Amino acid sequence: MKLTFFTLIISLQYAFLFAQNKAVFTIQANKPTASVSPNMYGIFFEDINLGADGGLYAELVKNRSFEFANPLMGWTIKSSKLLYGTINPGSEIHILNRPDKAATNPRFMRVTLNNVKKDSLGISNEGFRRMGIKKDLRYDFSLLYRQQKANAKLYVELVTEKGNIIGSATFTPEQTGDAWHKGEVSFIATATDPKASLNIWLEGNGALDVDMISLFPGDTWKGRKGGLRADMVQMLADMKPGFIRFPGGCIVEGRDLATRYEWKKTIGPVEERKLIINRWNNEIAGRPAPDYFQTFGLGFFEFFQLAEDIGAEPLPILNCGMACQFNTAEVTPVEQLDPYVQDALDLIEFANGSVTTHWGKIRAELGHPDPFNLKMLGVGNENWGPQYVERFKIFQAAIKKQYPNIKLVGSSGFLPNGELFDYLDSELRKMNVEFIDEHYYSSPQWFLDNAKRYDNYDRKSASRVFVGEYAAQSDRTTSIHNKNNWRTALAEAAFLTGLERNADIVQMASYAPLFGNIDGWQWKPDLIWVDNLQVMATPNYHVQKLYAVNKGSQVVPMLYKDNLPAAGQDSLYASATIDKITNELIIKIVNTSGKAQQAEVNVDGANKKGSTAKLIVLQNDNPEAENSLDSPSVVAPVEKIIDIKKKAINVELTAYSLSVIVVKF
Ligand code: AHR
Repeated sequence: MKLTFFTLIISLQYAFLFAQNKAVFTIQANKPTASVSPNMYGIFFEDINLGADGGLYAELVKNRSFEFANPLMGWTIKSSKLLYGTINPGSEIHILNRPDKAATNPRFMRVTLNNVKKDSLGISNEGFRRMGIKKDLRYDFSLLYRQQKANAKLYVELVTEKGNIIGSATFTPEQTGDAWHKGEVSFIATATDPKASLNIWLEGNGALDVDMISLFPGDTWKGRKGGLRADMVQMLADMKPGFIRFPGGCIVEGRDLATRYEWKKTIGPVEERKLIINRWNNEIAGRPAPDYFQTFGLGFFEFFQLAEDIGAEPLPILNCGMACQFNTAEVTPVEQLDPYVQDALDLIEFANGSVTTHWGKIRAELGHPDPFNLKMLGVGNENWGPQYVERFKIFQAAIKKQYPNIKLVGSSGFLPNGELFDYLDSELRKMNVEFIDEHYYSSPQWFLDNAKRYDNYDRKSASRVFVGEYAAQSDRTTSIHNKNNWRTALAEAAFLTGLERNADIVQMASYAPLFGNIDGWQWKPDLIWVDNLQVMATPNYHVQKLYAVNKGSQVVPMLYKDNLPAAGQDSLYASATIDKITNELIIKIVNTSGKAQQAEVNVDGANKKGSTAKLIVLQNDNPEAENSLDSPSVVAPVEKIIDIKKKAINVELTAYSLSVIVVKF
């Protein structure tokens, strides 16, 4: 364009207007207001949506010990001459029960073979929504068997849905007698298939008892036999989580007390861990999962080990003597609370006791002589009312007497405000409970409106806040139509600026739930979606990760118009921290409007090094945008280097964006 006097005037006017409309922030980098807790951003794990069985726990065989309510659920008997219980004269398959001899794993399968030829009689397992098999990967098959003098052979094979064999091995049981023996054979898969199943064909004569029929991939996390799915753990490790809360959620409470989570039943040999029904089995209307049980293959020892592996503080939550108040609301009489309290005391000894203590010795025998260094313990999940307070006090007195340094987490119920919340919040504060666990499953608008929630919170009491579960709901809580769209993630990002600004009060936060299996979910939204072979980061995951890996160590004031923090004015939300170790200033700005805005960030009290900064932007023009397993990067962070001035950082805040700016000083 030819520059005329007229166009020059227009351009100058435009530049003037643009400068006027700039969002101007001032950071007081030398006036830290609070320390950011090293545990600030963590993860919440619960066996929901096939999170553990069929998920993180890499076992591929469903109902491996025939302990589901229907003992053959997941299994098919393969025989051309099948009549359940009788295959052909003298050949039979039965499930036997011996509760008197093996209370925790009473059932097993007895196969009686009468001159059975290969491929005429077998059993097949469908896996958890079938099995994800990878080409060239080793698979470890194992089982427990017992025989007096059978002459049997097992042909193990992986088959695709179309019936192609993509891996096979032969196993011959050799040990005889009354004892159970472990048999193992490994083989390499010849092809990848997301929906395979496992066949075991039988051959020979005699009676063979089998139990704990298992198949694990060879690429588990850290190569541990019987371990965890490495790709799922890696997603957690990548977040550099400050803590891991386990084992849930409502699963801690149980629908009734008989199905509550009992940690002592989840350690030791897997064949002795008593399986129970998973409370999410038929909890959510429209998403029944009748085959959802808890095998506890991922038990408390493995949780502590996982926490250690990914550098997260372990944060176990224990049942407080109350079952889920949405279900049975069954409570243990206070006079009968001792075993529950003892479980808590024993857990601390299990985690921290020396190898000469009873539970410390058990930990050592399980392979971890060093303590796990447990510092925090939750008593009760989403429990409420005076019954909860009464029981919490008993736990608190007993735990503090023996372990005064263990910090306790108490529940403020399932809502973030209202009568139930106010009652618990005030009672727990009176009791100086170190962390009050707040949960919010609310609309994106609620998250935006609550970006200031902690600005004027109680700063006098000793209690601090643990936002133990939260997620913006695109529809409504427990709706199966909820989505992990960009609108929800952006609202969470905006809300997190408020947590960060108030890091003196809010010291831990975790999104919930963590995992969703696309073929087996009950609850939406979820942070990470998986199928049998892949993992997928949601926009919400990217937000969590960006905050966690860029958290800094001290909060510094970041002021907007009228010297106030940006908490919604002009659709902007912002916070700033400095990292004392890396000497970085970390700025987070969320623009929730559909228009780009130009920002100028002036930094007082710090000399910036260099003339560039790192800018990471998470953005999409469409707030309804979602990632999927087929298109995992619709909303994904993009990193670039930007030029900065000596004092000011100028940056364009694109529509619907989270911008993280990292400046060296
Ligand atoms: O995160 C799903 C469930 O929501 C948790 O189990 C429970 O604590 C909350 O109600």
